[in-house]
Amino acid sequence: MTTYRAAADRYERLQYRRAGRSGLDLPALSLGLWQKFGADYPFEKQREIVLHAFDLGITHFDNANRYGPPFRAAEKFFGHVLRTDLAPYRDELILTTKAGNPIGPSPYFKGGSRKSLLTSLEHSLRDLGTEYVDIFYHHRADPSTPLEETAGALVSAVQQGKALYVGVSNYPTAAAHTMAELLRAAGVPLLVHQPRYSIFDRGPEKSGLLDLAGADGFGLVAYSPLAQGLLTDKYLAGRIPAGARAANSTFLSPEQIDDVYRERAAALNGIARDRGQSLAQLALQWVLRRPEITTALIGASSTGQLDHNVAALDFPPLTEAELTLIDQHGIHGTAQRT
Ligand SMILES: NC(=O)c1ccc[n+]([C@@H]2O[C@H](COP(=O)([O-])OP(=O)(O)OC[C@H]3O[C@@H](n4cnc5c(N)ncnc54)[C@H](OP(=O)(O)O)[C@@H]3O)[C@@H](O)[C@H]2O)c1
Repeated sequence: MTTYRAAADRYERLQYRRAGRSGLDLPALSLGLWQKFGADYPFEKQREIVLHAFDLGITHFDNANRYGPPFRAAEKFFGHVLRTDLAPYRDELILTTKAGNPIGPSPYFKGGSRKSLLTSLEHSLRDLGTEYVDIFYHHRADPSTPLEETAGALVSAVQQGKALYVGVSNYPTAAAHTMAELLRAAGVPLLVHQPRYSIFDRGPEKSGLLDLAGADGFGLVAYSPLAQGLLTDKYLAGRIPAGARAANSTFLSPEQIDDVYRERAAALNGIARDRGQSLAQLALQWVLRRPEITTALIGASSTGQLDHNVAALDFPPLTEAELTLIDQHGIHGTAQRT
């Protein structure tokens, strides 16, 4: 039986931002369960991070059928916390899941078919222990499936009451626009698109996605705003701390911490220092400077990181002069796999 009681002042810290032209607000910072919420990380540590996030006003928790390891472990973990701690607060939570990235050899465990999306959603609802998710995403565009079929599956999820809103992730700009039109015509507007976006990943600017979001009226959920930790001070000294993602994840390798990266990160760190803040705080404010970005979707491996990152919102906005300086060092692709 839980002893958890959510902090009474949990809505006094964060700002909440409107998702596109919808009626839904999301916290400026959201928490994702991609890394360090699998079976390979202590349950109590994960639980502490999730509950601390909610105490800070982070109401939005991002999941996917793939998150673990193994696949589906993060949703099972979250389901446990929902049952034991967060059940009284379900109406205050925005829970998401995604399907479409491969989770096994079956042809129905990947892609954008009606079969794979709706059966995966059903499975996620069981693992999460909830009757509905707030946002159901197609995780990645699938050129082999007609967009009409994928859109139809997302619409069905809403019509069946299994999702309140729908989104897409990692969609190229043209496909996102077509999807937005298909969904609008079906009366289930595209709420959000979830792209990778950070000072080191300028893809959404170059591809026109930021502009499209404004025009089509969907919000952007910017994932990996800290470039998986590269936009923090943890790798600046040239060594990889034990337990850091570059030491233990297949998604960030030690080779990415190279001299070019360190030079650029050190320059950005200098700009942050002149503002009296950390590189992580600068990076989060930078992502949130654009009104099309509804929320910066962070990961965290400790409650201290959450506190530190939430404090980013207390600093004054970046000036034009600072943004110009950041552009000199915020070069697309720096140390990122593309
Ligand atoms: N749609 C998609 O295809 C997709 C893909 C990727 C991610 N996402 C979503 O985006 C979420 C966030 O992605 P991400 O984890 O890559 O985001 P991120 O915020 O760029 O990186 C988070 C990591 O940076 C480190 N960190 C965070 N705050 C720190 C601080 N103040 N000081 C030092 N280090 C700090 C931690 O790693 P350490 O372990 O090193 O401490 C933390 O796990 C995921 O959980 C997922 O929900 C979606």
